[in-house]
Amino acid sequence: MTEPLTIALNRGRILDEFLPLLAASGIEPDEPMAGSRRLIFDSKCGRARLVVMRGADVPTYVAYGAADIGVTGKDTLLEYGGAGFYERMDLGIARCRIVSAAPIGAVLPSGRLRIATKFVNVAKRYYAEQGRQVEVIRLSGAMEIAPLMGLADLIVDIVDTGNTLRANGLEALDTIAHISTRVIINRASLKMRFAEIEALLDNLRTVVDDSAGPGGER
Ligand code: PRP
Repeated sequence: MTEPLTIALNRGRILDEFLPLLAASGIEPDEPMAGSRRLIFDSKCGRARLVVMRGADVPTYVAYGAADIGVTGKDTLLEYGGAGFYERMDLGIARCRIVSAAPIGAVLPSGRLRIATKFVNVAKRYYAEQGRQVEVIRLSGAMEIAPLMGLADLIVDIVDTGNTLRANGLEALDTIAHISTRVIINRASLKMRFAEIEALLDNLRTVVDDSAGPGGER
């Protein structure tokens, strides 16, 4: 029997929304993932091995070929993406946006802007395209407090419902990117195990199309 395909999975909301799609495409973990401290699971069918990790590490595992396939957000790929893999599919789940945001009604300085974010590369690229001079300050979470504490003029962060911004008196300004979950494939794996990987992608595509309904809406 051939080696199972190794799939690196972004833990959290992406994993929660992806597992039902994966199960419908015929791949289920050998024991329930929810509430488990295990990080590596075999699949019941034996065709895949599922590995749970932080989103930012998914592109790294796939780029180095330690995983054949990765499932993570476009935000992660924009920030940490690089060579070594192909982005092959938009799963259309865990949709959100990367936005800039500031305290409601704040007057922004006309000169250099201070921006707090964990999306340092995304922010630098965006403001360079806008021709704005910025200083980007790296934070690892709870970005919303940075403008309230006088650390930054703006934040660049993920917005889903907008509840976190509202609860902290911030408003979204620019939409920098629309985000959803993507499937990435190691370049060498795609060449060496083309038929298996294409079959897996075809099955997933069928499930995703079915769950989108006749109007294509999710
Ligand atoms: C994200 C993001 C916002 C929040 C937005 O944080 O950083 O804080 O979700 O969601 P909302 O618009 O629905 O309120 P997350 O909970 O993923 O944790 P993080 O701070 O570690 O990124």
